[in-house]
Amino acid sequence: MSATEQAIRASEKDGGPSTYSSFAKDYDEHLEKIEWAAPQSIVTKWMEHYSPESLQTQATASGRKHRVLDAGCGTGLVGEYMGTVFPMDNVELYGGDITPEMLEEVKAKKGNAGYADLQVINLKKELPYEEEFFDSIVSSGVFYVGHCGPDCLPNIFRVLKKGGLLITTSRKVFYEETKEGWDKHIKECNCTLLEVCDIPYHTLAKGISLVIKKN
Ligand SMILES: C[S@@+](CC[C@H](N)C(=O)[O-])C[C@H]1O[C@@H](n2cnc3c(N)ncnc32)[C@H](O)[C@@H]1O
Repeated sequence: MSATEQAIRASEKDGGPSTYSSFAKDYDEHLEKIEWAAPQSIVTKWMEHYSPESLQTQATASGRKHRVLDAGCGTGLVGEYMGTVFPMDNVELYGGDITPEMLEEVKAKKGNAGYADLQVINLKKELPYEEEFFDSIVSSGVFYVGHCGPDCLPNIFRVLKKGGLLITTSRKVFYEETKEGWDKHIKECNCTLLEVCDIPYHTLAKGISLVIKKN
């Protein structure tokens, strides 16, 4: 088994700081080896719902930028990619992750990889943001075995505005195994699952994206 595969397998056993603190420095390099495509996939999906024009209109009406949370931002690959394909003038990007060493990697990148705010957060607990603070939330590579499950959804939905979207990846098999939990929390939080579809993910597993709207 290659070092990359070993690192991925270790994260499936424990997807928290005890794995990612030592993985952080080599994370981007390892993930490139398995053609990590989830950050690109999730930004592409987000762009199907938000355009520079719609965010300009929103900014004019609200007097502020569109606030996006990248939940479990890791080393900031979502922010880095978003900044290359979307004009960020009307976007305020927040990044949160449970592993401080991953956030240090974001801070070592040019312009904090586009993040205006970076915080240690635990998606399994109440998040340190006001209720309905975010206009949209994205998450890449966080919902799978050893990491986060659908029990984190209420914490995420609490900080999402009504009408806002959570656009997240999951591993296909993990979603199928935990679907009951997704359905339960989506319903209980008065949200609607708009779409589930296959996405480019990485060479060791199949991934999907979910688009969930807070009603
Ligand atoms: C596979 S990495 C994905 C990182 C980044 N989003 C990407 O696409 O490259 C998974 C990330 O989830 C974070 N994580 C795991 N459990 C978490 C939790 N309960 N709350 C917040 N972040 C968590 C890990 O620290 C790690 O940075």
